[in-house]
Amino acid sequence: MRIDIISIFPKMFSAVLDESIIKRAQAKGKVKIFTHDLRNFTLDKHRKVDDRPFGGGSGMIIQAEPVFRAVEAVKKKIKGKSKVILLCPQGKRFNQDYARKLSKCAGLIFICGHYEGVDERVRLHLADEEISIGDYLLTGGELAAMVVVDSVVRLIPGVLGDKNSLNFESFEGNLLEYPQYSRPAKFRNWPVPGVLVSGDHHKISLWRKLEALKRTGLRRPDLLKNKSNRKEQQ
Ligand SMILES: C[S@@+](CC[C@H](N)C(=O)[O-])C[C@H]1O[C@@H](n2cnc3c(N)ncnc32)[C@H](O)[C@@H]1O
Repeated sequence: MRIDIISIFPKMFSAVLDESIIKRAQAKGKVKIFTHDLRNFTLDKHRKVDDRPFGGGSGMIIQAEPVFRAVEAVKKKIKGKSKVILLCPQGKRFNQDYARKLSKCAGLIFICGHYEGVDERVRLHLADEEISIGDYLLTGGELAAMVVVDSVVRLIPGVLGDKNSLNFESFEGNLLEYPQYSRPAKFRNWPVPGVLVSGDHHKISLWRKLEALKRTGLRRPDLLKNKSNRKEQQ
């Protein structure tokens, strides 16, 4: 997969892209990630990318021109087709299913807004999709892009060492993950559930399934509802 990120703060990304699993995914050749400074695509000699909103109002709007030029320049470089994604609080809410869908794409181009947002013509005539990471406002699309990139990259086959770690995670099959414990078997006054140290794998697997169901019912009953809706549709 190839990922291109367009932002006025491209340096923000190194903290996430140059560490841990995403760094290793790039080293293994599973994903190529490029950041682009939106200011390199302005026609303005002061590299200005924003202007006041028509009709008045507070704040500045990222102009359409540099964003179109940036995306068009990136598209010219890539052979395959890339999906253009605008990070936007008014977009479709991001979740694990959405991440899985994006992980199958050959290429993704992310546009990070800032200030009061982005000229509407980017949304209307350039973006293929708009993603929101939740019902709250960030100052810019950079953190949102990092959230999406992180959750998508870890789903690319071969990025995580153990395939099973993907199958049993929260939100897979509309369930939350069962409780996890590690050594020591007794910490302070709290022993781990006996079944986990019993060595009986059948019992452990049953316990985990039950705990996952219990926990999902208590914390996220909406997920269980989705699960049964899906079954009915099948
Ligand atoms: C302060 S926000 C603009 C909000 C806009 N004035 C509004 O009321 O809808 C600036 C930029 O941050 C990004 N952003 C903010 N909140 C976001 C969210 N929940 N999900 C995705 N992107 C977000 C978007 O790129 C947006 O263009």
